[in-house]
Amino acid sequence: MEVLPDKTTLRDWIGSRRERPRVLVPTMGALHRGHTSLFDRARAEAVRLGGDVVATIFVNPTQFGPNEDFSAYPRPLEADLEQCREHGVDAVFVPEAGEMYAGDRSITITENRLSTTLCGASRPGHFDGVCTVVAKLFLLAQPDAAVFGQKDFQQLAVIRRLVRDLDFPIEIIGAPTVRETDGLALSSRNVYLTPEQRAQAPFLQQALATTSRAIAEGRLKAPSAAREAFLAEFAAATLARLDYFEIVDDMTLERLEEFGGSEPRLLVAAFFGKTRLIDNVGVS
Ligand code: PAJ
Repeated sequence: MEVLPDKTTLRDWIGSRRERPRVLVPTMGALHRGHTSLFDRARAEAVRLGGDVVATIFVNPTQFGPNEDFSAYPRPLEADLEQCREHGVDAVFVPEAGEMYAGDRSITITENRLSTTLCGASRPGHFDGVCTVVAKLFLLAQPDAAVFGQKDFQQLAVIRRLVRDLDFPIEIIGAPTVRETDGLALSSRNVYLTPEQRAQAPFLQQALATTSRAIAEGRLKAPSAAREAFLAEFAAATLARLDYFEIVDDMTLERLEEFGGSEPRLLVAAFFGKTRLIDNVGVS
């Protein structure tokens, strides 16, 4: 596996692979089984295309708000590189912030519709940072396909829109959420939880699953009733402060007023202390 510290080595590596297709997996490191499942998905796609898997590890400063955990974000680089190696990544791009951003940079990509609600409402500017860095990574790595997790469902929808509206010739592959055995979605932020918070964190997924099942079985006939049911169930998480719970159309992310027609997606964000966790499920 090649470790590529800057744009020049990335460009040279791409040149040396002579037109082989590439499947990209962008990450911020602190890799866990959620990330490695994306590497495995990317490997399957690379085999299909006869190409390579390229991962990126970059803690992108522009997608963190002023009071968020940018400096505290875990950066276990050696362990991350080992995980990349074990999961068949061919090259990993690990730039410094100075390599990615000029001090006087003055261009930002803003998605104006899907980014305004949910996490976008709670984290102003977050998706501008995501869109801008992902567009840069697409331009630098020039992949044929890129894999993103459904764990960050809004991010996946925003990136699909970025690719559609800016004509990136890249297939976006959404991969399912990997969970702990108690249902908690794997996240680099789970390490911040105290044991008490960790014990309650699975309530997020449990309340989503119970509500989703009740919708699927026709026991909850309207989004408003489903919302009530979710809130009642999630009240058991006494250490949590709900940020949002929404039932949206899974393509447009617009809030549903009734069931029938579009495919519903249930999304939640909650704080346990300062740690903000997100999760989502479909209805089937
Ligand atoms: P990061 O949080 O490191 O996540 C990298 C990728 O891993 C994302 O596509 C995310 O959805 C996926 N992922 C995280 N936890 C997962 C889980 N439990 N199961 C499946 N996939 C999971 O998302 C980012 O980084 C950044 O915003 C990035 C896209 C790299 C831009 O900076």
